[in-house]
Amino acid sequence: MKKIFVYGGNKVNGDVKISGSKNSSLSIIISSLLSNEDILIKNIPNIKDINVLLKILKLLGSKINFINSNLYINNKNINKNIIPLYLSKLIRSSINIIPSILLRFGEVKISFPGGCNFCKRPIDLHIKVFKDFNIKIINLNKKYIELKMFKKITNKKIYIKKISVGVTLNAIFLSVLSYGKFIINNVSTEPEVIDTINFLNTIGANINIINNTLIIYGVKKLYGGVYKVLSDRIETGTFLLSCVLNKGSLYCLNTNNKYLTKIIDVLKISGANIKTGNDYIYISMYKKHKPVTFSSNVYPEFPTDLQPIFTNLNIINNNKISYITENIFFNRFSHVNELINMGANIKILSNFKILCTGVNNIFGKTIYAKDLRCSMSLILAGTYAIGQSVIIDKGDYIDRGYENIFYKLKSIGINILYFNYF
Ligand code: UD1
Repeated sequence: MKKIFVYGGNKVNGDVKISGSKNSSLSIIISSLLSNEDILIKNIPNIKDINVLLKILKLLGSKINFINSNLYINNKNINKNIIPLYLSKLIRSSINIIPSILLRFGEVKISFPGGCNFCKRPIDLHIKVFKDFNIKIINLNKKYIELKMFKKITNKKIYIKKISVGVTLNAIFLSVLSYGKFIINNVSTEPEVIDTINFLNTIGANINIINNTLIIYGVKKLYGGVYKVLSDRIETGTFLLSCVLNKGSLYCLNTNNKYLTKIIDVLKISGANIKTGNDYIYISMYKKHKPVTFSSNVYPEFPTDLQPIFTNLNIINNNKISYITENIFFNRFSHVNELINMGANIKILSNFKILCTGVNNIFGKTIYAKDLRCSMSLILAGTYAIGQSVIIDKGDYIDRGYENIFYKLKSIGINILYFNYF
């Protein structure tokens, strides 16, 4: 468990190297299970979610060597051991391991996947896709999912009812090594999904994307290869925002503005000055920032993972009113009561919308992190609050998704320290 102390009031200055994307890394590592050959994946962040996944894969027989953001992996000797609940409940993407095991052994049993439970996260669409691919659901309860594939999958045309990252990945993983042509409509085109497709194509898959439709031609096998994961746009957005909230200037290095258009738009409306290059984003902000009404939605819209963090943009500013709409997850507002506790004026209007009215200041308090993005939202709140904030992060959520975060925040001027306690 972590107790994080933040002392507000410091300016932000310097540069920060953005790590590889958490979500891309998770799905690319999982998709490597479809190949039996040596693979090197570069730019993998050393964070808790990745380490949990690597533990799961080691139990499944993967040979893994993870050094300095380079992950060497070989999945030739995979078994169908049941992934234990204590591991699968820690990461949501354990559900994406199902296709590779099914394709190898015709059957799979995994403990129910978990992850950040900032709201109810159903798996009905995953189950629907498995059924669309003629996979039989043998058992589905709160503890286990057990599936069987009785014959090889051939030529399918499916429509995913609601755009979903995890479900799109499962549909891809089921198709790449099957027979014939697969048309998958209404897919997620988040950069992390495209990154996974690019990786799979690098090692021999034949996946084509036209707008929101995937056309996949099954191949006999996937090969080995080398691939560099894209940088984390959520981490980039977090650091850019830290500069707007605390004033100063910052270079985010090893990142790409291509996937941050909506995020940069919001920051510019708030008054920030932003310049971009091939592999960096520079931001400076020396005046009072303006609150911005924004909505999260599927890519290329504003990402839901930054919604709790960007709520900080709308807290301070004498009575100015703004709205935030969350269009992906039901009631993803676990950060709101904690911010109110610090003196923010926020009203939850519905399970999808909040109203922020600017106040003059917020104040350091003891506040409770309920999930990964909530934890980061509260850390940033602490950076501009008056006095000392103590963030109780019982789940060590922050470690799940941000590499070296305390070092990075300190290096740009933020006054932060933490203690682990038991
Ligand atoms: C992934 C990301 C997460 C991000 C989210 C949305 C990973 C490890 N996680 O999560 O960081 O916040 O995409 O960009 O990559 N849904 C259903 N039934 C299902 C599956 C999903 O109703 O069976 C709903 C969800 O409740 C949500 C929406 O679909 O309302 C989108 O969720 P989805 O894209 O599936 O999220 P994840 O893949 O779990």
